[in-house]
Amino acid sequence: MNTALFTLYLGVFKRIARTAALSPFDAQERHRLGELYALYSPPAPSSDLPEDPYKLPKTDILELAQLDRNLLLEGVNECGFGHVTEFEVKVISQLVNQLQPRRIFEIGTFQGRTTLNMALNSPADAQIVTLDLPPSELSQTQMQIEKTEEMYVKKAESGERFKGHPLASKITQVFGDSATYDYSRYHNQMDLVFIDGSHAYEYVLSDTENALRLVRKGGTILWHDYTNWEGVRRALNDYYQSGNPVFRNLRHIGGTSIAVLTVS
Ligand SMILES: C[S@@+](CC[C@H](N)C(=O)[O-])C[C@H]1O[C@@H](n2cnc3c(N)ncnc32)[C@H](O)[C@@H]1O
Repeated sequence: MNTALFTLYLGVFKRIARTAALSPFDAQERHRLGELYALYSPPAPSSDLPEDPYKLPKTDILELAQLDRNLLLEGVNECGFGHVTEFEVKVISQLVNQLQPRRIFEIGTFQGRTTLNMALNSPADAQIVTLDLPPSELSQTQMQIEKTEEMYVKKAESGERFKGHPLASKITQVFGDSATYDYSRYHNQMDLVFIDGSHAYEYVLSDTENALRLVRKGGTILWHDYTNWEGVRRALNDYYQSGNPVFRNLRHIGGTSIAVLTVS
């Protein structure tokens, strides 16, 4: 090492040593020490990534059901706006096949594609009640439904997928606003409740409270659209983060927009 370099290193070492030694007693030296630390410390990790908006822990269909390749499925690929996806109809059918529910309640019928597939995979004596809002009651709902979901209410027919089907006898169609419908005759009877009516936050809360009254102990509640509609996401996140033990096991089924809760 040449003399100039040695002198430089020695000067830097003395400066740092002096700052370090005096900093406990001298505010200016403390400030310098802080500057030196900031200069040589690694940059803070970037926090550009947005916060994950989905608070429910994940599960998946492999954890929830023994997969059966012989499910009965109809109209899987005949879907679009307003329907569950091709994969979701299979996931719901696998769950129904696994749980073998004899009493099912669905909030939000639409064309009845999920209703029919639940009928196909439930026990022969199962009964499914599916509730839909008639278009004539659209302007009188208890709470405001989302503007963008009005088109699913304004349809010529509700439940067209199961009309005339051999399994239609397993399905009872009822009509009304899910917030004011009188569910009392079905309380504590349902093995499975599928919530897929209005996706407005207040409706998800109201439908969830009603589902909890409908379902028997040990029964299951499914919600569609946890990842698709802000109202569903916020309501389920709020329930999960509320600390209420009822919602401790609320889970998001990975690869779908479905949330699941087994009611204990
Ligand atoms: C997304 S679609 C349901 C899709 C259906 N569950 C399926 O899997 O094919 C929503 C349905 O909820 C109904 N709906 C919306 N608001 C409702 C309310 N307040 N009460 C009852 N049903 C409602 C609509 O008429 C529509 O049929």
